[in-house]
Amino acid sequence: MAKVLILNGPNLSRLGSREPEVYGSASYTDLVNACTSKAQDLGLSADVRQTNDEAELISWIHEAIDSKIDVILNPAAFTHYSYALRDACAMLSAADCKLIEVHISNPHSREEFRHNSVISAVATGVIAGFGIDSYLLALTQLAS
Ligand code: DQA
Repeated sequence: MAKVLILNGPNLSRLGSREPEVYGSASYTDLVNACTSKAQDLGLSADVRQTNDEAELISWIHEAIDSKIDVILNPAAFTHYSYALRDACAMLSAADCKLIEVHISNPHSREEFRHNSVISAVATGVIAGFGIDSYLLALTQLAS
């Protein structure tokens, strides 16, 4: 069964209580369960992780590169400024791994600082604005 790493950046562990009008009422546990179950339906095995630590997130990208695993990444606020994370993500495509950048909200409809992603240019594709369904759409795409 093909494995997919689903990686989440800072503050996403707070889903459900964090700005529910923006991010919805599903908790992080709900997100993990939805991704795990959708992956199973698609014949994939999802390993879902969250960290507030940029270095840890980068080390997980390195792990995906070394193990040749596709990645679904919600970089959270790192989206907008982490060149270190972008450099790690650029190595994924060089290793023939797909990278789908996902967002729960639509950053383009929000504050101006959220309009730029330093990750998108090195991603295979981007899915934003569909709540936690953004992750499920990304899984469907990886399975196709
Ligand atoms: C987010 C959007 C980012 O701008 C924000 O910093 C997040 C979550 C989203 O999923 O909508 O933490 O990536």
